[in-house]
Amino acid sequence: MADYILEAENLNYRYPDGTHALKNLCLKIPKGQKTAILGSNGAGKSTLFLHFNGILKPTAGTVRFNGKDVVYNKKQLLELRKNVGIVFQDPDSQLFSASVYQEISFGPLNIGLTEKTVRERVEQAMTATGINELKDKPTHMLSYGQKKRVTIADILAMEPLALICDEPTAWLDPKHAKQTVRLFNEISNNGTTVILSTHDVDLAYSWADYVFIMSDGRVIGEGTPDKVFSDDILIRKADLDRPWLVDVFEMLIKKGCLSVNTVLPRNKEELFDLIQ
Ligand SMILES: Nc1ncnc2c1ncn2[C@@H]1O[C@H](COP(=O)(O)OP(=O)(O)OP(=O)(O)O)[C@@H](O)[C@H]1O
Ligand SMILES: [Mg+2]
Repeated sequence: MADYILEAENLNYRYPDGTHALKNLCLKIPKGQKTAILGSNGAGKSTLFLHFNGILKPTAGTVRFNGKDVVYNKKQLLELRKNVGIVFQDPDSQLFSASVYQEISFGPLNIGLTEKTVRERVEQAMTATGINELKDKPTHMLSYGQKKRVTIADILAMEPLALICDEPTAWLDPKHAKQTVRLFNEISNNGTTVILSTHDVDLAYSWADYVFIMSDGRVIGEGTPDKVFSDDILIRKADLDRPWLVDVFEMLIKKGCLSVNTVLPRNKEELFDLIQ
């Protein structure tokens, strides 16, 4: 069994207008790890994700799923898309069915599951994303945040091995953002590899097991969040900010409130414990 669920090797992609969006990009996403991909606008995150389930084909280089090169024929791409589910950045590009229920059932029906299994999966996905009450609503009438949750339910119902979410918490209110993060934790605990792209350094810092930093079509840094976010040069190079926790932690050390050997806390609760 491969240690990495998705790999990109010397990946290059040029859009038809000539934009060189991915430049010899290399990365290996460890199986089962909660992975965050960070990078400023235009770094290439969404373009990379579109390669992970074969929507885009590399101009040069290789994409691997579960240790095997992606093959670009209809049958194999269908199989890949069963295993790698992508929640798009813009929900309107994903939603097309009449009602929320129909929308979420479309994927599972399309892969030939029985009606009973489809019903169970759709109910589970709606409960997990908290959208039961929207079941019969036409998707075009939903608010942006509601649409976002429907698109997550869409992919959840497919029970993929890897769930990729492009900017999952953008536009969600704090309650639903927290709920979504909790949901990603549950999905991860059930053995699915969850991969997010985000500009939210605080979310990436406290949520992820492993972080990749992208800039201008390349991966320019990777590692555990404490390692990556302690690297000021890397964070500045990627036009990102440091998580507030790292800033406060360093200030507390500088002021002598914490000993220099203290381990960086991962969240607010851990920091408060340290201060007490
Ligand atoms: N359909 C397209 N045609 C031409 N260029 C494109 C297209 N889509 C994206 N690009 C370009 O490719 C580069 C990477 O874009 P991409 O959307 O992958 O970045 P991103 O990291 O997802 O950014 P954001 O944080 O804004 O979502 C950018 O320079 C962008 O302008
Ligand atoms: Mg994007």
